[in-house]
Parts: sequence; C-alpha cells; structure tokens
Amino acid sequence: MRILFVASECVPFIKTGGLADVVGSLAPVLAQKGHDVRVILPKYAAIAEKYENQMHHVIDFEVQLGWRRQYCGIESLEMDGVTYYFVDNRYYFGRNYIYGLGGDEYERFAFFARAVLNCLPLIPFEPDIIHAHDWQAGMVPALLRIQYSHLPAYASIKTVMTIHNLQYQGIFGIRDVQDVLHLPDSVFTDDKLECHGAANYLKAGLVYADEVTTVSPSYAEEIQTGYYGERLDGLLRAKRDHLTGVLNGIDTVEYDPSTDPSIAQRYSVEDMSGKAANKRALQEQLGLEVRPDVPIIGMVSRLSNQKGLDLVDYVIADIMREDVQLVVLGMGDSRYVNLFSWAEQNYPGRVAARFAMDHDLAHRIYAGSDIFLMPSQFEPCGLSQMISLRYGTVPVVRETGGLRDTVLSYNDYTGAGNGFTFFNYNAHDMLHTLQRALHYYHDRKDVWKTLRERGMSGDYSWRHSAEMYISLYQSILPGEQRFTQPVQGDPHEAVPQAPAKKPAAKKAASKKEAKANDPHEPKEKPAKASAKPAAKKTTAKAAPKAGDPHEPTAAAAKAPAKKTTTKKAAAKSTDPHEAAPAPKKPAKK
Ligand code: GLC
Repeated sequence: MRILFVASECVPFIKTGGLADVVGSLAPVLAQKGHDVRVILPKYAAIAEKYENQMHHVIDFEVQLGWRRQYCGIESLEMDGVTYYFVDNRYYFGRNYIYGLGGDEYERFAFFARAVLNCLPLIPFEPDIIHAHDWQAGMVPALLRIQYSHLPAYASIKTVMTIHNLQYQGIFGIRDVQDVLHLPDSVFTDDKLECHGAANYLKAGLVYADEVTTVSPSYAEEIQTGYYGERLDGLLRAKRDHLTGVLNGIDTVEYDPSTDPSIAQRYSVEDMSGKAANKRALQEQLGLEVRPDVPIIGMVSRLSNQKGLDLVDYVIADIMREDVQLVVLGMGDSRYVNLFSWAEQNYPGRVAARFAMDHDLAHRIYAGSDIFLMPSQFEPCGLSQMISLRYGTVPVVRETGGLRDTVLSYNDYTGAGNGFTFFNYNAHDMLHTLQRALHYYHDRKDVWKTLRERGMSGDYSWRHSAEMYISLYQSILPGEQRFTQPVQGDPHEAVPQAPAKKPAAKKAASKKEAKANDPHEPKEKPAKASAKPAAKKTTAKAAPKAGDPHEPTAAAAKAPAKKTTTKKAAAKSTDPHEAAPAPKKPAKK
C-alpha cells in the first residue's frame, strides 16, 4: 500500500509532544513491512541544519488562500525506508515557534492542508491512503471530499483521521476559514464543519475521514462520553462503528536500556545491576543527596493540567514528608514551573526540576528513577509509562485512557500487575497509591523485583498495532488495491497482504482482537466505578473570532468537473483558485 502520513510534527525533525514520537516511529515500521510510506510536515525554522542539508528540492508552486498567493516549496529527504516531504513557506513556518502565538493558526494549517493536496499530482507519489494526525491535518480529509474527490487524481484516495488528543481541536471563526479555503456556507452546519458557532478543523477531519482512530482502546471508549468528549462526544458516538482505538507503541530501539548511549550504565532484565549506577549518576548530575536507599520518583511530562499536576500541587508536602526524592523534567504552564521551582528551593537535595526539552536527561530519568508518576486527568495513550516499564521503573498512574490499557495495578492476592494505579481524580487517592508503592519498595523487595522484571520484559513495540493499522487501511480500500505495490528501488519484496475483513465484521473483530491480543492490555481489570471521576474539567475553548476583516467569499468551491487524464492536467484543475503549479526556482529569501 502507498500511505501518506500528514502531521504537524515528527521525530527526529521536530517535536513538541508524543504525536511526533508516534508519527516518527510508526512510519518506518510500516515501511519495514513492505509498504511505501511517506510523511509530509511543515518545514519549520527549528528543524536542525543537519536535516535541512539533506533535503532536496522536489517542486514548487503557488497556493491560493483567498486573495493571497503563497509560495509553496516541497523539499524531501529519505530516512529508514521512509520519504519525508517538507512544506516550505517561510512566512508561515519560518517563525520562532511551532504553534500558537501569531493568531493565524487557521491560515497556517489551511495553507498546510491545501499544500498537501495540491502537491499530490506533482510529486511522484499517488497515495492509496492519507492518514491525517490531529487537528493540524484535519482539513485534509475534509477538503479532499468537499473539493477534490471528483478529480481523477484524487478519486480513489481513502482517509484515516487519528486523534492524539481530543482537547486540541483547532477552533476558528467561520468567516476566517471560509476566506482562506473558499468553502461554501453549506458545509458550516453542525453535521459538518460547524461546532458551537465556530469552524473546527478536527471535527472536519472526523466527519469526512473514512475511518477514525485514536491512540488507545480505553480512550476510544472514553471520548464517547460527556466527561472526556470535549463537546464532540455526540459525533464520536455517531461514528462509533468507524472509530477504533489502536494502542501506540514506542521506539524500542531508541528506548532500550541495554544499548542506550545516553545513560550512565547499560542494563537489562538479565542483569539489572546497572540500574543502581544510573540512580547514583542521576543524583550526582541533579545535585540530589547521593543515597542508594531513597526511592526516586521521576516525572517527564508536559507541564499542563492534562497531566494531573494539580494533584501533585495539592499534596506535595505530604509526598515530601515521605523519605523520597522527586525529579521533574518538562516545559509548560507557569503555574507548574513555579510549583516545582518552589519545591526545589524548599527541599534542597531532595527535589530537582528542569524546565527544558532534554532528550538525554529524559533517558537518564527513566533509567535512574525507581517510581514513575503519571496521574493524568486524561491520557489518550501516554508513552512515558511504557518507556518507564521498559527501563524497570515502576509506574504509578491514574486509570485513564492508555494508562489504563498499559498499567495493571499490582494485586497481592493474584500476584498480577506491573505497577500501581488509582481511579478517581483525587489527590489523596494518588498519595495513598504512592505510599502503597513505597511500602512494596521498602518492605517487599521480592515483589518490587518482580514488578521491575515484568515491566522490562513487556512488549511495547509497534508489532501488533502496526498490523492493526494495516488491516484498517485494507478494510477501506477496494480489493485490488489491497496488495503491496512494489516501488521502484524498494528493497522490500512485494508481499501480498492477507485479504481484509469486510468493514462491518472488521469493527467487532478488531476491537475484540485489540483487547484479547494486545500485550499491553491488562488481563484483569478492577470493576469500573460507575461514578464519574471526582473533579470535573473546565475546558476553556478559544472563542470564535469576532469581526472578520475579510469578506466572505461567494465563490463556489467546486472545481470544474472536467475529466482530466494526465497527472499534471489534474493538478491544474484541482482547485479553481489555484495558480497553475508551474515548477520554478524556489523563491527563498
Ligand atoms: C498526545 C497525547 C498522548 C499520546 C500522544 C501520542 O500527546 O496526550 O497521550 O501518547 O499524543 O499519540
């Protein structure tokens, strides 16, 4: 299959969160299985020069957004069997931030979506599947269906939309969006792009994609409820037959304590002696008291409300009354920067906080800590708990989303479990669960050893989940497209894929299969409390902008339905507002 990932971030080029890890680690795994996988993302100024130097110019053309005509370059490089395309426009992506500050996100990611669709007939790649990730790519499935799918070059493309975090939706003024994307009033109804008076890019993707996925089976269920649904639960319930939870994997090569070049001493489940050396090195590096007997609680996290840090805030004095050390690494809200800065001052030699994106330090925290704390309010999947398990660091987590699917609380009667969990969003429940973990750390060393070994032996790879994506893609393609296409120069043999299940049967099967076969799926679950978690979220959504300076465009969005036969010709008729994408020299400044 030919698969195009559309995403706003991807390791190793650019990362603000787990989305980048997932896109960057799943793509090569699918490629290894013989598929032609390509990823397209914006060419941000922050992408390291060493990657920029490897890029070559594929094509450039102009993209029309309302009255604006914008240069669009497509650069590319190849790595680990995957071709990466970078959408180049300095005005939109040459800024000193990735998201948010300019007030024109609707325009930046409208440009991105338009650029992705318009470049397709011009680059040597005709995808069977476009897999869009998060709201920044949400307009791709929508525009494809509304404005492009009658054109031969686009007619057979199927789309998958993945939600990595439902809280971020890309909500903008309808007139702003109409102005840049030439969309008619008829698509701004509440069954399409409109959402509580605004235009919603994520919703656009969810409505128009052929299949929707999210990043864990539990989150797929949770987002159909009012508590977790972020005002889209109704839509998600309506789409439930086309909504699948596919648990993320981690990059098991990068996160491998037996080969990790970032840590003080390598270790494995057969020989865990190196773990103590890593603890010592971490204490030394961060100026903590060097004591082998004191448990270190590690946190590597975006410092946001999602991560449950207000629970930590509430009981930090109680936590620190225990004989523990606390290590925090992350960037984010000033409230939590202040909290952990204060704690570092107040508990010298016992708390260390670093507010940065520090890849090496993150690895050292996973390796050197004893307990990993992740009390998230909601967690679509979460990767850190899986990385901790792999490093023999015992997770203490709240039972939500992917945390619930990967961490099973230790049960003293059955001996099952790989960590410690609590259900209610309640600071004292978290505190007591931490204390329970400390009890096993100090007084039940046999259990602690088992938990570590169990964590380190788990399978957190993409093996199973990559297969689930492949069968999902296959289920939406017509029969003849379900075979791997040999690509010129592709080192992999064409491997015929197993025939897909019928879409209707697929749903039930894949959901059940996800539960039964998923190695990360806890086998026994504590009975789910029927009460809602204690604290209710207050979701501040960006209000739609008032006073659109641009007139709404009356132009019909439909391109002339003329049949075109050649790829180039198709490109020209793609968008009536689009300048003919004549290749020319990049207008780099
Ligand atoms: C987002 C979610 C996180 C998930 C990641 C990758 O960052 O908050 O839970 O693991 O996306 O899917």
